[in-house]
Amino acid sequence: MKKLFIVSFLILVIIGCNNAPKEINLEKAIDKTWWKEGILYQIYPQSFKDTNGDGFGDFKGVTEGLDYLESLGISMVWMNPFFQSPLVDNGYDVSDYKEIHPRYGNMEDFDAMLAGMHERGIKFVLDVVVNHSSNEHEWFKQSRSSRDNPYREYYHWWPAENGEPPYRHSLFDPEGAWEYDALTDAYYLHTFAEEQPDLNWENPKVRQEVYDIMRFWADKGVDGFRMDAFQFASKDTTFPEWPEGHEKDFIKWYGMRPQLHDYLKEMYDEVISQYDVFAVSEGAGSTFQDAHDLVDSDRNELQMAYHFETVDMSRTPDGYTLDEFREVFSRWDKAFAEEGWIAIFLSNHDNSRLVSRFGNDNPEFRTVSTQMLNTFLLSMRGTPYTYYGDELGMTNIDMPTIEEYVDIDAIGKYKSAVAAGDDLDEFMNELNYSSRENGRTPMQWNDSENAGFTNGTPWKRVNENYTIINVEAQEKDQNSVLNHFRRMAKLRNENNVLVYGEYQLLLEEHPDIYAYTRELGDEKWLVLLNFSESNSNIELPELDGIDTAKINNYDDVLLDGNSMEMLPYQAIIFSLK
Ligand code: NOJ
Repeated sequence: MKKLFIVSFLILVIIGCNNAPKEINLEKAIDKTWWKEGILYQIYPQSFKDTNGDGFGDFKGVTEGLDYLESLGISMVWMNPFFQSPLVDNGYDVSDYKEIHPRYGNMEDFDAMLAGMHERGIKFVLDVVVNHSSNEHEWFKQSRSSRDNPYREYYHWWPAENGEPPYRHSLFDPEGAWEYDALTDAYYLHTFAEEQPDLNWENPKVRQEVYDIMRFWADKGVDGFRMDAFQFASKDTTFPEWPEGHEKDFIKWYGMRPQLHDYLKEMYDEVISQYDVFAVSEGAGSTFQDAHDLVDSDRNELQMAYHFETVDMSRTPDGYTLDEFREVFSRWDKAFAEEGWIAIFLSNHDNSRLVSRFGNDNPEFRTVSTQMLNTFLLSMRGTPYTYYGDELGMTNIDMPTIEEYVDIDAIGKYKSAVAAGDDLDEFMNELNYSSRENGRTPMQWNDSENAGFTNGTPWKRVNENYTIINVEAQEKDQNSVLNHFRRMAKLRNENNVLVYGEYQLLLEEHPDIYAYTRELGDEKWLVLLNFSESNSNIELPELDGIDTAKINNYDDVLLDGNSMEMLPYQAIIFSLK
């Protein structure tokens, strides 16, 4: 982990400003529900387990893996999109929201998988991709066919006779977010790729279509909804000219308009309140107020949100500092101590691997540093979201040349770098580290060919370290990342202090150790995490007279009175009361 001293300094200044003692109304904060108490496991379905030899993971593969999932101690699964799609963005371009892409199986397979989860007490969270659809969705085909088609207003169109639309940044398309369509001599809007036109949420018919889709899946028994890219659903539909450079803060300019809250209240009335389900938004706006406005319980909108500040750290090989890490988590915890609820995550399908990014994937430290990060994730307030393979410490894959990349995001960024005349060696070095393809490699089940993921040719190269990092090997080793994850999940599941307990940061400026307490009623627990690859010492009055650790990723506890020497990436939790 390299240190960025300037950033650390700024962060300390921010901590200083935010640290005024505050009375916490725990009564309100501990409004208990299953989606706060559970641990969520994210499955990227095409990479989990293939049962028909086509090289893509499928529903039957997940069904085969259910005992494994149950053994982890998780109680929710969020699965990335599996709907009918031309797969331009691996399924985030849906052409039919009620049909399943054959690569994953059929509706019967889905029902069997869902029933299997429910038998094991595991809830299912559906990925709802409705900021945009695919350009192959029937709605869009109709919409583009003529200016007076009844579906025209399902999307955003800019007639060419009004001149070129003002520049708008696209997250995937280096040429911007407006695409000219000669058929009706008009431009349509796409915040992501040109094959992902934005739906027009201003149109009540579009909203009713979405609620209908959500009800369809809730009637089947799904238990939650993850709202993809939802901040962008509300836009200033006059599409004005924004100041130069605005695209660097695109959420502020392109999304989170006040009417979003009207849509969400409507969605709550029409769907969420009618079932025992929750909805979580991807993104939490640009301010704490935005985030609270989305999730506070008295607003009756969403139930949870996840923000990007934690994964905005460490986007480049320069890494991050412990100062910024604990500042971000402490600040968010404080903002949600009394009201509202957020998700906690460090990795997902849009990011590189947990251990390669926040830990240390050198063989010497891979196990302990992943264990330390999982201890962190499972001991914070907020619902922990863990990503498939991180319970094993799966690592980034080395992909130094652009030819191997299939992800639209990586390819778009590469084209932009070429157009801007950037240093391509440097660009590829960064891409290799940060690309989301790192997080999409096949699950490593065992040391047989293709890691036991498929009998065919995997859609994506298996990480060559599968012979060492795999489920089967780790099952046999009590000290493995996997077995540590299970112990940690059990600890959280059995102790609400780790779910609802008040969080208090200790040793605010320690260079290596992240220390905090969690307190609920007469329980007070101490979490100690060494973020460095060296031994490091702490002194804490709380350590005096402490007894056995609740969990420890080493055999030793080097305690001497109120001081302690922590081993590289050691993670320990003690009970203090
Ligand atoms: C966010 C998703 O997580 C990402 O994978 C996708 O590419 C974009 N939204 C567009 O849907």
